[in-house]
Amino acid sequence: MDRARLAAVCQTPTVFHPLHQSPLFLAQADRYEELGPRAWSEGIVPWRVTTCPLLADVEAHLIAAFARACTAAGALGRDEQLTVIDVGAGTGRMGFHLAPRLAALGVRAEVVLTDVASSNLEALGSQPQLAELARGGLVSVEHFDALTPRRLRPGGATVLLAHYLFDTLPHRVFRRAADGATFEGLIDDAVEPWAWRYEPASLPPGLGSRPPGTWLIPVGAAAALEAWRRTFPGALLVLAADKGVSPRGPHDDPLLARHGSVSAGVDFDVLAQLAAPAWRHLGPRDPSDVFALHAFTTSGSTTIDDAWRDRGSGNEVLRLHERFEACGDPTTGIDALLDFLESTGNDPDLLAQRCDRLRETPLTEAQAHRAVQLLASAAPRHFVFRQHFDVPFNLAVTAHHLGALRLAVALYLRSLEESGAHPATLLNLALAQHALGDVERACECLDVLLEHEPAHPRAVELLASWRRGS
Ligand SMILES: C[S@@+](CC[C@H](N)C(=O)[O-])C[C@H]1O[C@@H](n2cnc3c(N)ncnc32)[C@H](O)[C@@H]1O
Repeated sequence: MDRARLAAVCQTPTVFHPLHQSPLFLAQADRYEELGPRAWSEGIVPWRVTTCPLLADVEAHLIAAFARACTAAGALGRDEQLTVIDVGAGTGRMGFHLAPRLAALGVRAEVVLTDVASSNLEALGSQPQLAELARGGLVSVEHFDALTPRRLRPGGATVLLAHYLFDTLPHRVFRRAADGATFEGLIDDAVEPWAWRYEPASLPPGLGSRPPGTWLIPVGAAAALEAWRRTFPGALLVLAADKGVSPRGPHDDPLLARHGSVSAGVDFDVLAQLAAPAWRHLGPRDPSDVFALHAFTTSGSTTIDDAWRDRGSGNEVLRLHERFEACGDPTTGIDALLDFLESTGNDPDLLAQRCDRLRETPLTEAQAHRAVQLLASAAPRHFVFRQHFDVPFNLAVTAHHLGALRLAVALYLRSLEESGAHPATLLNLALAQHALGDVERACECLDVLLEHEPAHPRAVELLASWRRGS
């Protein structure tokens, strides 16, 4: 090796860290700070499943049962407000769906949307739909660090939502080799691909009886549960929605997802063992490495267990998204597609991704009626955060195609507000307004379009014809 290369190598020696102490996890908050709302609007970090209306509905029922149990035990006064802390709230879309559902179930609750990243807190504080809920006292926005928590409100009962949070908090890696020897996995993340090294170590509790393999241990999630229990007096319910882990052999390195930040599947079995006996774990009937809702509670009430059996253990949200994938198959019949869309709890994002079929296939009158009802109920549940996929436009085109012109106009206007003056949106809006007999507004729309694109042939032709009165 020549001297220059040797010097360069010596200046940057390879350093291995236990995974939980590596820059990968220690810099998580900084990464989210840098990304801000782009993390979600640009599709860098997934968000659809953990903020969907169906999950809000399931969680509202579980929280209502928890509130009943706390009231019966005297831990929550009849007029006392329950505090629901969304830890690492991201877009805030969960609060948008959850707060009204809790109110509809008669649960007096304030959903506190929290994050460590001030860029996210700014975006949450300026989101207009959340501002409206805040005016009604249903939501608020505050800084909160999962690992150094503080009490946010007085009161004897608290719910914490951990949606795609435990995967973001630090994990450690342990391995048992085929000969029974045990190791901790250390990482050098300064090189590409990351380098792993395994050093002798004893296994933490919970892994002792496992056969040979390599495991990610959610030490950050375990530390958060412990810190939350020490910080909040009274009964606690934690609802954790996250991906699980797939088995890895004793020669495999652990799987970590990279999307601007890093995330690791959560081993809920070992988390439950690390958290016991202070926390009771309620898990899905069929464990999943893709996605599942889990509950941890310090309450011994059977009311919560009953609610979990009804709405928690079936992993409804995963089933919904499996059916969503299946509905993408062009052989799915329209009635089956409509049945599916009606079961999403008015999810405009899922509807917008599947509504092309409602335009491309001839519908019976009854099917068209169902489709318009769906569009009308889902449209107000669209949460605005400038995602690249233009949900209002997709819904508007479908409403337009089905002859629901007033709904189409409202949705085109929404799309213009959210995604800017796109020529296709302006043209379609002009057509819908013209079909409603509002020629003046239709012409104004084309004028705006032509300011953006003076030679737009269709707009020039339509404007001339409409102004001539033909
Ligand atoms: C993967 S995103 C999940 C966002 C949202 N819960 C969802 O399901 O779409 C992780 C979020 O946790 C936040 N976060 C990271 N470390 C945190 C910590 N120590 N305490 C609180 N929030 C944290 C990030 O800023 C980010 O908003």
